[in-house]
Parts: sequence; C-alpha cells; structure tokens
Amino acid sequence: MVEILWHFVSHLTFFSMAFLEYSTILFPFLIFVSVVIILYRYQNKNSIIPTNWPIIGMLPTALAVMNQPHDYITNVLAQTGGTFLFKGPWLSGMDMLLTTNTSDIHHIMTKNFANYPRGQKFRNMFDILGDGISNTDGKLWEFQRKTIMSLLKLPSFHSLYKKTIWNKVESGLFPVLEYVVKQGATVDLQEIFQKFTFDTICTLLFDHDPRSMSTEFPHIPCEKALSDMEEVIFRRQATPPSFWKLQKLLRIGNEKKMSDAWKTIDQFIYKCLSQKQVDFTNTGYELQDGYFKLSTALVREFKDQSGTSGDPNKFLRDNLLNLMLAGRDTTSVTLSWLFYLLGKNPIVEDKIREELQTKLETNTGMQWKDFISKESQNLVHLHGALCEVLRLYPAVPFQYKSPIKPDSLPSGNQVDPDSTIILCYYNMGRMESIWGEDCLEFKPERWFSATGEIIHQPSYKFPAFNVGPRTCLGKDISFFNMKIVAATIIHHYHVQLVEGHFAVPSSSIMLEIKHGMKVRLTKRHELKI
Ligand code: HEM
Ligand SMILES: *[C@@H]1O[C@H](CO)[C@@H](O)[C@H](O)[C@H]1NC(C)=O
Repeated sequence: MVEILWHFVSHLTFFSMAFLEYSTILFPFLIFVSVVIILYRYQNKNSIIPTNWPIIGMLPTALAVMNQPHDYITNVLAQTGGTFLFKGPWLSGMDMLLTTNTSDIHHIMTKNFANYPRGQKFRNMFDILGDGISNTDGKLWEFQRKTIMSLLKLPSFHSLYKKTIWNKVESGLFPVLEYVVKQGATVDLQEIFQKFTFDTICTLLFDHDPRSMSTEFPHIPCEKALSDMEEVIFRRQATPPSFWKLQKLLRIGNEKKMSDAWKTIDQFIYKCLSQKQVDFTNTGYELQDGYFKLSTALVREFKDQSGTSGDPNKFLRDNLLNLMLAGRDTTSVTLSWLFYLLGKNPIVEDKIREELQTKLETNTGMQWKDFISKESQNLVHLHGALCEVLRLYPAVPFQYKSPIKPDSLPSGNQVDPDSTIILCYYNMGRMESIWGEDCLEFKPERWFSATGEIIHQPSYKFPAFNVGPRTCLGKDISFFNMKIVAATIIHHYHVQLVEGHFAVPSSSIMLEIKHGMKVRLTKRHELKI
C-alpha cells in the first residue's frame, strides 16, 4: 500500500517538475489561445462576418468552412449588401473580393471585358488546361472561340450530336436503368449521369466510346482523374499560392493527387489521339451529313496551331481536355440536382409528366425519340425546372477575375491588378435582392408566362452559362441533351430519393453532389422507347 502511494507521489512530482519546466512556454500559449477563443466568441455573437486576425487574416474561417463554403458565403454576402472583401494572411496574395452585385457582374464580364482577361493567376491555378479555350486570352482565344463556335453551329454537327445522345440513351441509359429496376437496388443517379456524359463527350471528341455506362459499372481511371483534378483546383483557392506551388514541386498532398490525375488524363487523351490521327489520314474530313466527325474537324482546324508551348499535339490535347471538362460535369451535375429538386417537389414532377402526356396525345403514333426531339423546345415546365436548377445550383459556382488596370466597380469597391475578384454565381441565386423573398424556393413558373411563353433573364442576373463574350458555347445543345434525358426518365420511371439522403454541394470547381445522389427507381408503365 505504502509502495503504491510512494509510486503515485513520485509520479506526481515528476509531472509537476516537468510542468514547471514547460510552464514558461505553456502559460503564455494558453493565455493566447484563451484570448483568441474569447475574441472569436465575442465576435460571433453579433455577426457571422469572419474575424480579420493580425498576420493570419481570415484564414482560420476559410479553413473552417472549406468543406461547406457555399451557404456560409451566402449568409455573409446577404449581411454585407452583396460584396465582401476576404483578407488572407499578410503577403500571401490571398485577398479576394467576393461579389454578387449584378452591376459588378455586368461591368466585369461585358462592359469592361478588355480589362478582365483570364490572366496569369488563373492560368497558374488551372495549369492542367494549358492552352484550352477557357484558359487563353487575346488573339489565341478569339481564334479558338471562332473555330469551336463555327463547328458547333454546323447542321452536320447537330445531327451527329442528336445521334450520339440517342444512341447512348438506347444502348446505355435504358439498359442500365432497366437493370437497376429489376435488381430493386438503390443507385447513385449522379454516377449514372456522369457516365452518360463522359461516354457521349468522348464519342463526340475522340470518336471513341469508353462504354463506362454499362451494368458492370466499370472503373474508368480517366473519369475519376477528372473529378480529382477539379477538387484540387478548388483547394488551391484556399491555399497560399507559394504553399501549393511548393507542394507541387515536392509532389505531396493535394498536389500529388493532381499530378497523378494529370498523368492519367494525358494517357487517355493521347491514346485516343494517336488512334485518331491514323483515322484522319485514312478517311479524311467530310463536312457532309452522315460523314461529319467533330474529332476530325478539330484536328483539321487546329493542325497549324501550336499555342504557347509550340507543340501542336499539346495544343490539341489542351483543347480536347477543355471541351471534355466543359461538356461532361456541367450537364451531369445539372441533371443530378434536377432530380434532387424534383424528389423534394413532387408536384413539379407531376406537372412535367402531365405536360409530356398532353403533348404526346397530340402527337399520336410518333416514336418517343422523334417526339422529344420535336417538342423539346415546347416543354415549358421542364425548361423552367432546368432553369431553376441552374439558378440554385449552377454547375460552375464561381468565376475568378483580376483586372489589368485599376478599376472601380459599380458596387463601390476599388480593385487593382493584385486583386482577385470572385463572382459568386452560386450565391447570386440565393440573394433576396436579386430574386425576391422566395429566392430559395424551386419555382419553375418563374420562367414562363401564363400563356406558356418562355421568360428570359439577363445573363448578369442568371449567370449559369457565364456572361458576356465568354458565354458558354454549349448552352443550346446541353438544354437539348438534358431535356431528352430528363423527359425520358420522368416519363418511364418514378424516381424516389432514398430516405434521409441529404444532398449538399461538394467542394470543387464543379458543383457536384457530395456523396452522390442515391435513389430508388420503379417503372411507371410498360412503355417502349
Ligand atoms: C448544363 C450545361 C453547361 C453549363 C451550366 C455550362 C456553363 C459554362 C460556364 C459557366 C462557362 C464559363 C466557364 C469559365 O469561363 O470559367 C462555360 C464555358 C464554355 N462552355 Fe459551357 N456549360 C455547359 C455545357 C457545355 C457543353 C455541353 C459544351 C460543349 C461541348 C460547352 C462548351 C463551353 C465552351 C467551349 C466554353 C468556353 C467559352 C469561352 O471561354 O469562350 N458547355 N460553360
Ligand atoms: C450593387 O451595388 C450598388 C452600389 O452599392 C447598389 O446600389 C445596388 O443596389 C447593388 N445591386 C445589387 C443587386 O446588390
């Protein structure tokens, strides 16, 4: 007993000695921590505006909300009248002006466009895109934009696009959904849409269908690599540039993920391209219906260009990767959020279905495929629902800008070449000052009149497809694509969200649903396509 007591006392002595030794460091540290906590609490009592600490700026808040930044930013912007200056650590180059002010958006993206190029900061952040159209400025960008726009406008491209989408619906989407219904299992609808768009965009760009959309749900490394890369680019935003550049050099952390993704993506694209070039010499490039291939046309149009790297192959790779990115996740993410919102608003789903039924009755005897292709413009409930999705969950949630020359924004903020401006597209849809008190509600009827006319909104108010000279080139084709997929599913199946599944946006440059979107599918009637 005495022995135990002695043991105890000696331990106690040891600890108190050690404690005394360290207390010279520990006490000031504990006091510092307590002050920080007290200040933090005190600040938070009245407002959610982040505290601007000496030296570290607002970095603690940025790190704390990194995994769920969107709604926090909405609340801050609502309290600060639509714009907010985020202060990064001293000298870190992380200061950012966040804006949802529609006049600012109009000014930056359209009126004073020449003063707001992509710029080097953006190019560094999106280094993997190289000289892709989203990443270039000036003459090179003008050439790319003109070329891609003229190809996407060709009637022969439209028939190719239609054919590609329907092929995938019939040979991929339907068999997979039928399989899921038979199994009675739950399925991640977002994954299905990602595979759908990945296959179709690759078929269009490379003339190669990776067939990721199949009942075996094969793992395609390039698909995963694209998502990884989008996530890492997003994380670079909340990291001081010198820090992630060091990580990149050492290939550690997020940057290791990026460099692996980069390798995988390059392997995929260059493999497709090498097969393509063989094709190109064999078949030539016909701009006739039935013969048109976007892949061949792009190779032909870009063959005399080598971009900033001087390497024509890399220039082609950059453009193809950019188009893959532009067409893949944007569409699949929008479709996923559509079914999430329909699951939460079954009345809207019923209205879309009724509209389909009514229109079908006036087109008796017409095949489903021809019917949708013909009526897709007139499905106003579906159109309104998609616009609401793009308002509340725009696939590209932010846009980054820096001015060349100092400028003063309509909101009153001053910006100079060191400033980073973030145009907060996601948060704009949730501003009462822009959309009214019911801004958070899913109301497709915002987008059509009582007589069924579609209502247009200026892009600086509804920026999902971007604003001004850099407006999305795929807007019309993606509406067409999304209407086909959505109408086909809504007409043939009943989609039920898995109970308790709560969809939140992921932290990425694309607004994916974190952890996917689990649903259960049941067949509505014995209908055929
Ligand atoms: C729901 C679907 C889509 C949405 C919401 C969307 C949205 C956007 C946005 C926000 C931008 C600006 C990005 C930036 O500059 O950072 C953009 C650019 C672009 N989009 Fe889309 N997009 C969609 C589908 C497509 C499709 C299917 C294509 C065709 C392949 C496409 C082609 C492009 C191109 C080429 C650009 C670059 C324009 C330029 O910089 O001049 N998009 N899109
Ligand atoms: C943009 O800022 C100006 C100036 O502060 C203000 O008058 C205007 O109402 C703001 N617009 C929006 C939509 O917040």
